[in-house]
Amino acid sequence: MPKSSHSVGPYPILVLNGPNLAHTGLRQPEIYGSRGLENIPALVDQLMGERAKEIELSFYTDNSEGALIDRLEQACAMGARGVAFNAGAYTHTSLALADCIAWIGIPVVEVHISNVFAREEPIRRQSFMGAHVIGMIAGFGLWSYALAVQALHAHIANQEKK
Ligand code: DQA
Repeated sequence: MPKSSHSVGPYPILVLNGPNLAHTGLRQPEIYGSRGLENIPALVDQLMGERAKEIELSFYTDNSEGALIDRLEQACAMGARGVAFNAGAYTHTSLALADCIAWIGIPVVEVHISNVFAREEPIRRQSFMGAHVIGMIAGFGLWSYALAVQALHAHIANQEKK
């Protein structure tokens, strides 16, 4: 994943991806589309225009649950202001990831490329982390990430006004 073009800005936001998502673009394109995760910064720019300069995006993708927890803990220690998190199948199975999100105190938006509620397997409608995130965006293809970053930006800006 190339480093984001948003190199300066007050809001560091992590885009975190779980198992099988590194191959987005190649993996089941009829479900996940034919564009890879490297397109996310351009979509954020397109959606947010000038406001994209107010965020500093970083990216991390890993197939394993423990590495994702380590990265969330690191984001917390390094002062990240928000996380757009597509945990892939761990969304539906991982109490450990949900426990991590519950304590780290960083606003997390749950992201899915596909509309998990419209898919065949009932387990995809279940999210362990759902109770601990500020919201969930699903079904907009790669745009789901850009929408999640925009939502985090708005959430942080609102918090600062209070
Ligand atoms: C996914 C949906 C999950 O159910 C699935 O296991 C994934 C991708 C999505 O982005 O649509 O790996 O999180």
